[in-house]
Amino acid sequence: MTDTAIINEVGLRDGLQNQPVPVSTDTKARIADALVNAGVRYLEPVSFVSPKAVPQMADAAALTERLPRRDDLHYTALVPNLKGYQLARDAGYPTVALVLSTTDTFNQRNLNMSLEQAAASCETILSAAREDGIATRTYISGAFACPYDGPVPVALTQSLAERMFAAGSDEVAIADTIGGGNPRQMKDIMAPLIREFGAGRFYVHLHDTRGLAAAMAWEAADLGVRRFDASLGGLGGCPFAPGATGNMATEDLVYLLESSGLKTGIDIQGLREAIALAAEATERPLGGRILSWMASQEKQGKTACLW
Ligand code: COA
Ligand code: ZN
Repeated sequence: MTDTAIINEVGLRDGLQNQPVPVSTDTKARIADALVNAGVRYLEPVSFVSPKAVPQMADAAALTERLPRRDDLHYTALVPNLKGYQLARDAGYPTVALVLSTTDTFNQRNLNMSLEQAAASCETILSAAREDGIATRTYISGAFACPYDGPVPVALTQSLAERMFAAGSDEVAIADTIGGGNPRQMKDIMAPLIREFGAGRFYVHLHDTRGLAAAMAWEAADLGVRRFDASLGGLGGCPFAPGATGNMATEDLVYLLESSGLKTGIDIQGLREAIALAAEATERPLGGRILSWMASQEKQGKTACLW
């Protein structure tokens, strides 16, 4: 166990993908700059998907050109199929995120593939990535619950994770895409997987739809997981997962981890600029719980003492 945690900022991808107000490439690049200024070092800024399916991601290649380049910045692009993988590779991404949902219905709606077709497609991409020297993280999406078919058996999520590791995935992300899980399920799914593969190969991706994201994140941290996705201001939701709200807010996750002694390298004050830009661009209020508390402290003339 280390005392540091990685937070992968997915707001520009997961956060923006279902926003009805188009956000310009320029604004996205300014948000990326602000995130990096706040200490974010891991970002998933784009997906290479059909622009007809997700218009907000149509500028993936153009945005990639505009992102800050530094040796300490780690970028991932989400890819839904082999074509997306090839586009991400050609754009220079060192890591790709693959998606495999737990049910036929969800795979069909998201990728136009059955579960078996999606798993086979991931296997094809994983082997291509291995040849190309590109790192891989496979998301088991709907790992706790499917937006269409309801609760998902623990053994199913575990078997898909095992299959993706067997196919060569460097990392696996256990994703509560609709925020339908609970801490107990997190433990039931993750504890055996961690015993088998080690905590260092897992990411956890949480949506805060029903308010359990922090409890689930802490459960995962307690099991040794040190890699998490989050979205600035809690921005987001999945266009193919009805009812899903945004990811756990980056600032709330930073607060949870830092106040519990895990260093993230991210400054919550610094995140405020990125969140303000995103709120303005998407024309919606944003911000996790910790920001409301900080604002209330400031209103009383106090400096918000975070931890
Ligand atoms: N990027 C860009 N365009 C793509 C693409 C990709 N990864 N994959 C397919 N296309 C294009 C094809 O070139 C084709 O274009 P054309 O109509 O101009 O010839 C068109 O999309 C249809 O191709 P097809 O292979 O039949 O795809 P599909 O209709 O079965 O759609 C997906 C499959 C995956 C491309 C589409 O459903 C998609 O992009 N979904 C987005 C999923 C997503 O972002 N979910 C949220 C994150 S998990
Ligand atoms: Zn998500």
